[in-house]
Amino acid sequence: MPRHIAIIMDGNGRWAKKRFLPRIAGHKRGVETVREVIKACAEQGVHYLTLFAFSSENWRRPEEEVSMLMDLFALALEREVVKLHKNDVRLRVVGDLARFGPKLVKLIHESEHLTRGNASLTLTIAANYGGRWDIMQAMNKLVAQTGQPAEQGYSEADLAPHLAMHYAPEPDLFIRTGGEQRISNFLLWQLAYSELYFTPTLWPDFDTAALNQAIASYSNRERRFGRTSEQLGVR
Ligand code: IPE
Ligand code: IPE
Ligand code: MG
Repeated sequence: MPRHIAIIMDGNGRWAKKRFLPRIAGHKRGVETVREVIKACAEQGVHYLTLFAFSSENWRRPEEEVSMLMDLFALALEREVVKLHKNDVRLRVVGDLARFGPKLVKLIHESEHLTRGNASLTLTIAANYGGRWDIMQAMNKLVAQTGQPAEQGYSEADLAPHLAMHYAPEPDLFIRTGGEQRISNFLLWQLAYSELYFTPTLWPDFDTAALNQAIASYSNRERRFGRTSEQLGVR
């Protein structure tokens, strides 16, 4: 069982287009999938679930779509956070919040605060997140903390605590729906040794059965972390 699953939820627009609906209808249907996947992960004992909701590049989309996505995010938070709390889910949001409106930022902080003591599942929403942004903000924090760049250089272990997801182990399983086979500036540092799983299923069509298929694929893989198969002693 993967301890941490990270997902690029892609394909909402195409799902809507196939039905001659506006793109936002796909995003709305995508929220239903989010609900189902959180439930399935909680039931199966996954401890960390990380969902890419909005990338630092998604600002390039038409203004109307961006603003509807922001509204949808706020609405989903408002509606779901009490239920998450009841189900012992801890909510965290990672990304550069500076570009969000004050109302959304307040909602994010309140939701994080309310659920801070929960431990069954940590749900991370990556919003206005970019993997390169993450590495750079971590580097900047590290340098600011030490006062000046270290003479002998920094180690990976020095940087890790400053990354946005310092509280979580690295993802064991990475899933991207919607058929594209790329990382799109998601967790660059943390995906170094994750098992990658790509499916053509569009996010609104992704369900518990599809999640279980991804998990089954993961459980058949041999994670060697640079070692040989023989060293692992399983074959
Ligand atoms: C993913 O679905 C959701 C976000 C990026 C917010 P898309 O909106 O990218 O859907 P497609 O890729 O156009 O189908
Ligand atoms: C990646 O999806 C970001 C999210 C799912 C939030 P995109 O649809 O924006 O990615 P690209 O542009 O196709 O790489
Ligand atoms: Mg897309």
